[in-house]
Amino acid sequence: MIRLGVNIDHVATVRQARHTIEPDPVQAAAIAEKAGADGITVHLREDRRHINDLDVRLLRKSVHTRLNLEMSVAAEIVDIARKLRPDQATLVPERRQEITTEGGLNVAGKEKKIKSVVECLKEKNILVSIFIEPEEKQIAAAKNVGADYIELHTGAFANALSLKLVEKQLNRLSRAASYAKELGLGVNAGHGLTYLNTKLLVEAVPEIEELNIGHSIISRAIMVGLHQAVSEMKAIIASAAKG
Ligand code: PXP
Repeated sequence: MIRLGVNIDHVATVRQARHTIEPDPVQAAAIAEKAGADGITVHLREDRRHINDLDVRLLRKSVHTRLNLEMSVAAEIVDIARKLRPDQATLVPERRQEITTEGGLNVAGKEKKIKSVVECLKEKNILVSIFIEPEEKQIAAAKNVGADYIELHTGAFANALSLKLVEKQLNRLSRAASYAKELGLGVNAGHGLTYLNTKLLVEAVPEIEELNIGHSIISRAIMVGLHQAVSEMKAIIASAAKG
Protein backbone atom coordinates (compact mmCIF):
# COMPACT_ATOMS: atom_id res chain seq x y z
CA MET A 1 0.00 0.00 0.00
CA ILE A 2 1.30 3.46 -0.90
CA ARG A 3 2.22 5.54 2.16
CA LEU A 4 0.57 8.93 2.63
CA GLY A 5 2.82 11.60 4.10
CA VAL A 6 0.72 14.54 5.23
CA ASN A 7 2.51 17.86 4.85
CA ILE A 8 1.39 20.15 7.68
CA ASP A 9 3.41 23.28 6.79
CA HIS A 10 0.21 25.21 6.07
CA VAL A 11 -1.03 24.69 9.62
CA ALA A 12 2.04 26.63 10.74
CA THR A 13 1.46 29.17 7.95
CA VAL A 14 -1.91 30.05 9.49
CA ARG A 15 -0.37 30.25 12.96
CA GLN A 16 2.39 32.56 11.70
CA ALA A 17 -0.19 34.89 10.13
CA ARG A 18 -0.84 36.04 13.73
CA HIS A 19 2.41 34.94 15.45
CA THR A 20 0.30 33.10 17.98
CA ILE A 21 0.06 29.52 19.22
CA GLU A 22 -2.86 28.25 17.15
CA PRO A 23 -3.34 26.22 15.06
CA ASP A 24 -0.68 23.91 16.47
CA PRO A 25 1.15 21.72 13.92
CA VAL A 26 1.94 19.13 16.61
CA GLN A 27 -1.77 18.66 17.31
CA ALA A 28 -2.43 18.58 13.56
CA ALA A 29 0.17 15.82 13.16
CA ALA A 30 -1.52 13.76 15.88
CA ILE A 31 -4.93 14.13 14.21
CA ALA A 32 -3.45 13.20 10.80
CA GLU A 33 -1.82 10.10 12.27
CA LYS A 34 -5.05 9.10 13.98
CA ALA A 35 -6.82 9.42 10.62
CA GLY A 36 -4.37 7.02 8.99
CA ALA A 37 -1.46 9.17 7.77
CA ASP A 38 1.62 6.99 7.34
CA GLY A 39 3.95 9.87 7.95
CA ILE A 40 4.19 13.57 8.72
CA THR A 41 6.13 15.87 6.42
CA VAL A 42 7.38 19.33 7.33
CA HIS A 43 9.74 21.77 5.65
CA LEU A 44 12.04 23.61 8.03
CA ARG A 45 12.86 26.53 5.77
CA GLU A 46 15.96 28.67 6.21
CA ASP A 47 13.69 31.72 6.69
CA ARG A 48 11.43 29.78 9.18
CA ARG A 49 8.40 31.27 7.52
CA HIS A 50 6.09 28.50 8.78
CA ILE A 51 7.53 25.49 10.63
CA ASN A 52 10.11 26.48 13.26
CA ASP A 53 12.83 24.75 15.29
CA LEU A 54 10.59 24.07 18.30
CA ASP A 55 7.95 22.49 16.02
CA VAL A 56 10.42 19.99 14.59
CA ARG A 57 11.77 19.10 18.03
CA LEU A 58 8.26 18.50 19.38
CA LEU A 59 7.26 16.58 16.26
CA ARG A 60 10.32 14.36 16.58
CA LYS A 61 9.08 13.39 20.04
CA SER A 62 5.38 13.05 19.21
CA VAL A 63 5.19 11.54 15.70
CA HIS A 64 4.69 7.79 15.96
CA THR A 65 4.71 7.02 12.23
CA ARG A 66 7.53 8.53 10.16
CA LEU A 67 8.85 12.07 10.29
CA ASN A 68 9.99 13.32 6.89
CA LEU A 69 11.96 16.56 7.06
CA GLU A 70 12.05 18.57 3.86
CA MET A 71 15.22 20.62 3.87
CA SER A 72 17.67 22.61 1.80
CA VAL A 73 21.35 21.65 1.70
CA ALA A 74 22.39 24.72 3.76
CA ALA A 75 24.93 23.82 6.46
CA GLU A 76 22.78 25.19 9.31
CA ILE A 77 19.81 23.03 8.32
CA VAL A 78 21.98 19.94 7.77
CA ASP A 79 23.33 20.35 11.34
CA ILE A 80 19.77 20.57 12.71
CA ALA A 81 18.74 17.46 10.76
CA ARG A 82 21.71 15.47 12.07
CA LYS A 83 20.71 16.32 15.63
CA LEU A 84 16.99 15.84 15.05
CA ARG A 85 17.32 12.52 13.22
CA PRO A 86 14.07 12.46 11.27
CA ASP A 87 13.23 9.07 9.76
CA GLN A 88 13.69 10.58 6.31
CA ALA A 89 15.14 13.80 4.96
CA THR A 90 13.95 15.09 1.60
CA LEU A 91 16.38 17.50 -0.03
CA VAL A 92 14.61 20.34 -1.82
CA PRO A 93 15.73 23.56 -3.49
CA GLU A 94 14.89 26.75 -1.64
CA ARG A 95 14.52 30.33 -2.75
CA ARG A 96 13.51 33.21 -0.49
CA GLN A 97 10.74 34.67 -2.65
CA GLU A 98 9.05 31.46 -3.77
CA ILE A 99 5.44 30.77 -2.80
CA THR A 100 6.18 27.05 -2.55
CA THR A 101 8.99 24.74 -3.70
CA GLU A 102 8.96 25.60 -7.37
CA GLY A 103 11.14 23.04 -9.12
CA GLY A 104 13.15 19.96 -8.31
CA LEU A 105 16.68 20.09 -6.94
CA ASN A 106 19.33 20.29 -9.68
CA VAL A 107 21.34 17.31 -8.43
CA ALA A 108 23.13 16.84 -11.76
CA GLY A 109 24.51 20.37 -11.48
CA LYS A 110 25.75 20.05 -7.87
CA GLU A 111 26.68 16.41 -7.38
CA LYS A 112 29.73 17.01 -5.18
CA LYS A 113 27.95 19.27 -2.67
CA ILE A 114 24.82 17.11 -2.53
CA LYS A 115 26.84 13.90 -2.14
CA SER A 116 28.53 15.33 0.94
CA VAL A 117 25.15 16.32 2.44
CA VAL A 118 23.73 12.84 1.72
CA GLU A 119 26.74 11.26 3.44
CA CYS A 120 26.35 13.54 6.49
CA LEU A 121 22.71 12.52 6.86
CA LYS A 122 23.23 8.82 6.24
CA GLU A 123 25.97 8.77 8.90
CA LYS A 124 23.09 9.45 11.33
CA ASN A 125 20.93 6.66 9.83
CA ILE A 126 18.56 9.11 8.15
CA LEU A 127 17.02 7.84 4.90
CA VAL A 128 17.60 10.37 2.16
CA SER A 129 15.15 11.29 -0.57
CA ILE A 130 15.77 13.99 -3.19
CA PHE A 131 12.99 16.03 -4.76
CA ILE A 132 13.68 16.16 -8.50
CA GLU A 133 12.08 16.74 -11.86
CA PRO A 134 11.18 13.48 -13.63
CA GLU A 135 14.30 13.60 -15.82
CA GLU A 136 16.81 10.80 -16.47
CA LYS A 137 19.87 12.92 -15.76
CA GLN A 138 18.52 14.01 -12.36
CA ILE A 139 17.58 10.43 -11.44
CA ALA A 140 21.04 9.13 -12.41
CA ALA A 141 22.62 11.94 -10.40
CA ALA A 142 20.44 11.11 -7.36
CA LYS A 143 21.72 7.55 -7.59
CA ASN A 144 25.33 8.76 -7.90
CA VAL A 145 25.12 10.90 -4.78
CA GLY A 146 23.80 7.96 -2.73
CA ALA A 147 20.11 8.81 -2.24
CA ASP A 148 17.76 6.05 -1.06
CA TYR A 149 14.70 7.59 -2.68
CA ILE A 150 13.75 10.19 -5.21
CA GLU A 151 10.59 12.25 -4.84
CA LEU A 152 9.22 12.96 -8.31
CA HIS A 153 7.93 16.51 -8.71
CA THR A 154 4.31 16.13 -9.84
CA GLY A 155 3.67 19.86 -10.31
CA ALA A 156 3.65 19.80 -14.13
CA PHE A 157 1.15 16.92 -14.07
CA ALA A 158 -1.03 18.71 -11.50
CA ASN A 159 -1.01 21.91 -13.55
CA ALA A 160 -1.72 20.25 -16.91
CA LEU A 161 -4.88 21.76 -18.36
CA SER A 162 -5.74 19.38 -21.21
CA LEU A 163 -6.15 15.61 -21.37
CA LYS A 164 -3.27 15.48 -23.85
CA LEU A 165 -0.94 17.32 -21.46
CA VAL A 166 -2.06 15.18 -18.51
CA GLU A 167 -1.22 12.03 -20.49
CA LYS A 168 2.14 13.47 -21.54
CA GLN A 169 3.06 14.27 -17.92
CA LEU A 170 1.86 10.87 -16.67
CA ASN A 171 4.03 9.16 -19.31
CA ARG A 172 6.97 11.26 -18.22
CA LEU A 173 6.44 10.35 -14.57
CA SER A 174 5.95 6.70 -15.42
CA ARG A 175 9.18 6.51 -17.46
CA ALA A 176 11.07 8.30 -14.69
CA ALA A 177 9.71 5.95 -12.03
CA SER A 178 10.68 2.80 -13.92
CA TYR A 179 14.16 4.15 -14.59
CA ALA A 180 14.59 4.97 -10.89
CA LYS A 181 13.42 1.45 -9.94
CA GLU A 182 15.92 -0.05 -12.41
CA LEU A 183 18.67 1.86 -10.62
CA GLY A 184 17.46 0.56 -7.25
CA LEU A 185 15.99 3.84 -6.00
CA GLY A 186 12.73 4.03 -4.07
CA VAL A 187 10.12 6.30 -5.66
CA ASN A 188 8.12 8.93 -3.81
CA ALA A 189 6.07 11.68 -5.44
CA GLY A 190 4.40 14.92 -4.53
CA HIS A 191 3.43 18.52 -5.22
CA GLY A 192 0.07 19.82 -6.32
CA LEU A 193 -1.75 16.52 -5.68
CA THR A 194 -5.46 16.86 -4.98
CA TYR A 195 -8.62 14.86 -4.34
CA LEU A 196 -9.17 14.91 -8.12
CA ASN A 197 -5.78 14.03 -9.59
CA THR A 198 -4.19 11.59 -7.11
CA LYS A 199 -6.06 8.51 -8.38
CA LEU A 200 -4.86 9.12 -11.95
CA LEU A 201 -1.26 9.32 -10.78
CA VAL A 202 -1.42 6.22 -8.61
CA GLU A 203 -2.98 4.19 -11.44
CA ALA A 204 -0.41 5.37 -13.98
CA VAL A 205 2.72 5.02 -11.82
CA PRO A 206 2.59 1.79 -9.78
CA GLU A 207 6.24 2.19 -8.67
CA ILE A 208 5.28 4.98 -6.24
CA GLU A 209 5.87 4.05 -2.59
CA GLU A 210 4.96 7.32 -0.88
CA LEU A 211 2.94 10.43 -1.71
CA ASN A 212 3.49 13.70 0.12
CA ILE A 213 0.42 15.91 0.06
CA GLY A 214 -0.16 19.18 1.88
CA HIS A 215 -2.12 22.06 0.40
CA SER A 216 -5.13 20.11 -0.79
CA ILE A 217 -5.55 18.21 2.49
CA ILE A 218 -5.27 21.33 4.65
CA SER A 219 -7.67 23.18 2.30
CA ARG A 220 -10.21 20.39 2.59
CA ALA A 221 -9.77 20.29 6.37
CA ILE A 222 -10.90 23.92 6.52
CA MET A 223 -14.00 23.17 4.46
CA VAL A 224 -15.04 20.03 6.32
CA GLY A 225 -14.22 21.55 9.71
CA LEU A 226 -15.63 25.07 9.39
CA HIS A 227 -19.24 24.07 10.07
CA GLN A 228 -18.34 22.60 13.48
CA ALA A 229 -16.03 25.50 14.35
CA VAL A 230 -18.74 28.10 13.70
CA SER A 231 -21.40 26.06 15.56
CA GLU A 232 -19.17 25.79 18.63
CA MET A 233 -18.58 29.56 18.73
CA LYS A 234 -22.32 30.25 18.28
CA ALA A 235 -23.03 27.90 21.20
CA ILE A 236 -20.56 29.78 23.45
CA ILE A 237 -22.14 33.13 22.56
CA ALA A 238 -25.67 31.76 23.05
CA SER A 239 -24.87 30.26 26.46
CA ALA A 240 -23.14 33.47 27.63
CA ALA A 241 -26.06 35.59 26.43
CA LYS A 242 -28.50 33.39 28.40
CA GLY A 243 -26.49 33.64 31.60
N1 PXP B 1 6.75 17.41 -1.68
C1 PXP B 1 7.64 18.43 -1.61
C2 PXP B 1 9.08 18.12 -1.79
C3 PXP B 1 7.23 19.74 -1.34
O1 PXP B 1 8.13 20.74 -1.28
C4 PXP B 1 5.85 19.99 -1.11
C5 PXP B 1 5.38 21.38 -0.79
O2 PXP B 1 5.88 21.75 0.46
C6 PXP B 1 4.97 18.90 -1.18
C7 PXP B 1 5.44 17.63 -1.49
C8 PXP B 1 3.51 19.07 -0.95
O3 PXP B 1 2.96 19.83 -1.98
P1 PXP B 1 1.46 20.32 -1.88
O4 PXP B 1 1.37 21.24 -0.71
O5 PXP B 1 1.23 20.99 -3.20
O6 PXP B 1 0.62 19.08 -1.69
